[in-house]
Amino acid sequence: MRPLVQRMGHVTLGVTDLDRAADDAVNMLGVRVIESDEARVLLSSNERNAELIFRPAAKSEIQICGLEAVSGDAVDAVRSRCEASGLKILSDQPSLPCMEKAVTFGTSEGHVFEVHTPVPYDRPVRYLGSGIHPKSLDHVNFTSEDPERFTDEMNAACGLLLSQRTSGYEICWMRAGNYRHHTVAAVKNPTGVHHISWEFASFQDFKTVADSLCVEDRRIVWGPGRHGPGDNLFIYYRDASGFMTECIAEMEEILDDGQPPNVVDPGENLSNYKVVNQWGALPSQDWIDHFTPYAEFNP
Ligand SMILES: [Fe+2]
Repeated sequence: MRPLVQRMGHVTLGVTDLDRAADDAVNMLGVRVIESDEARVLLSSNERNAELIFRPAAKSEIQICGLEAVSGDAVDAVRSRCEASGLKILSDQPSLPCMEKAVTFGTSEGHVFEVHTPVPYDRPVRYLGSGIHPKSLDHVNFTSEDPERFTDEMNAACGLLLSQRTSGYEICWMRAGNYRHHTVAAVKNPTGVHHISWEFASFQDFKTVADSLCVEDRRIVWGPGRHGPGDNLFIYYRDASGFMTECIAEMEEILDDGQPPNVVDPGENLSNYKVVNQWGALPSQDWIDHFTPYAEFNP
């Protein structure tokens, strides 16, 4: 079957300092603020109404990952499939007023996903700012105690397809309806999020992100490089709230929904550079160990 989810929707993050979080996303990534009040800040990099949402919290945490459904009927189908597979429905109220329909469910270990009809595409494509900005929120790589189980549950709930995995299910990459190699991924670690990824038009744009980090005496955590899975170019840095942020370009597409998962050997502690980074530089232990926890669901 085709996936019931077309692409990433939004990522909603709890942060201790709303203004600082929003300023950092604007200055480093080049996204812009769509709407802001004391309860939340909505940001977007394109015509979409909301991609990145910050809400006040006592600590940095991921609260909801939004996935854009292929249709309103697909939202109903996700609800039915969650019920059939024993996944808990947490809400059928959209988290944003601009969404017509949504269902929010939890994985068995507590990741929270909202599958929703598309937010309006009503913002001007060009806007003032640093001049370089992402094309889109691209994918989220979660941390999971059991990536194999996570993968099974996301397939059962949303029809996401397993594109690639490591031989021991240490990392799994899943694609949605837009054919990109991965929209949701999971790496073995306590329940949370490892990194949030933005697609840029070209590798050249990362230079501006890195130069902007320099201004505040901050460092790239890993990269530049080119991953094996997804074949994408990358750099990683921590945003002002501590979330690992990835900038990518040139993500592989898999056009055949029937293509079986590709299984790769990551090597001891991600030492197989042909999988991890085709250009050769391996990640630090700091990058490998990183995760930000998931919050209890709070609409
Ligand atoms: Fe990634």
